Amino acid sequence: MTNLFDPLTLRGITFKNRIGVSPMCQYCCNGDGKPTEWHLLHLVPRAMGGAGMTMVEASAVSPEGRIAPGDVGIWGAQHIGPHQKLAAAIKRVGSVPAIQIAHAGRKGSRGPGWVNAPADEPWTAIGPSATPFGNYATPKAMSEAEILATIAAFAAATKRSVAAGYELIELHAAHGYLLHEFLSPLSNQRNDGWGGDFAGRSRFVVECAKAVRAAMPDKLPMSVRISHTDWVAGGWTTEESVELAKLLKAAGADIIDVSSGGLDAGQKIPLGPGYQVPGAVAVKQGADIPVAAVGLITEPAQAQEIVESGKADMILLARVLLRDPYWPLRAAAALGALESIDAPPQYERGWAALGKVGMDINQGAPLEAL
Ligand SMILES: Cc1cc2nc3c(=O)[nH]c(=O)nc-3n(C[C@H](O)[C@H](O)[C@H](O)COP(=O)(O)O)c2cc1C
Repeated sequence: MTNLFDPLTLRGITFKNRIGVSPMCQYCCNGDGKPTEWHLLHLVPRAMGGAGMTMVEASAVSPEGRIAPGDVGIWGAQHIGPHQKLAAAIKRVGSVPAIQIAHAGRKGSRGPGWVNAPADEPWTAIGPSATPFGNYATPKAMSEAEILATIAAFAAATKRSVAAGYELIELHAAHGYLLHEFLSPLSNQRNDGWGGDFAGRSRFVVECAKAVRAAMPDKLPMSVRISHTDWVAGGWTTEESVELAKLLKAAGADIIDVSSGGLDAGQKIPLGPGYQVPGAVAVKQGADIPVAAVGLITEPAQAQEIVESGKADMILLARVLLRDPYWPLRAAAALGALESIDAPPQYERGWAALGKVGMDINQGAPLEAL
């Protein structure tokens, strides 16, 4: 029986527990894709709160692959340095640094998440077909050359991510962004080799996964986030997700991060606690691959049940960690697993009442060197 606070090893990387910080866009770059002070301030407390993995938000593989101008980027050599600081800080407080690499496709060129409007200085978004999302601008259908260039951009972004020190790389193929747009018949109307039947619609995602894997050292794990269903009749289905997961496993994916929706404005999502967990179970059982479950997982006992019953190998948390970065510490207390928590010695007088003091961070680098 596996517990929430048992370690998980994927390839050569061991996560100290099964809790991950889910990627969360902050829209806080200054238009150049370089992570800022805010990203450090946002990520470190969550890494320090006890999560075994902390994933940096969707990071664009090209400038036009951003959702919004403030998105994080990983499209150039100039991004490696600031990402190195994030990865090193996350690792220093005991969490595995991870990054999600992404292309927004037809959902790009928008304002920040809290502004439902086009970007102030919009660019032409691209997609598999000239079919818009909801009331967004109509994207330009990608040429074969653009498809191949985008696959190469994912590979190059992977190399930069590895150089920055990330130890897990997640390919974002969910939430109606570019890779998901190729998968779903609602957004992919191509009649060339990149559309049509399941094999054609899956090809772009599988080729991206192969390119990412080939750009990573063997010892580092690759994750792929998928939307297991569009929650719309005639859209992408859970059954197709299972078949896709088999192809991704063969392409070198080590874990599938199972989310849902985001592709079609007409989606009807049955929101409720753990509402995406059945998708994770279907993928895990159908494709025989480790999975991460995400979505309205908020209670320690709920998270423990998901892992203990073998429904998922890991759980990812987003909004609950915005409210409480120390959720893993509280969960360890609630589940009687405090012996698995490492506190930094500086915090001994606060944390010793809860668990052991093991984390060794000493003084760290002088601030002016950061
Ligand atoms: C502020 C915010 C930003 C998000 N940004 C991303 C992102 O960059 N990439 C992604 O795949 N999901 C993103 N999500 C979705 C979360 O990772 C997560 O899948 C979703 O919120 C469901 O989990 P929860 O119920 O624990 O919040 C974001 C969610 C929030 C709340």
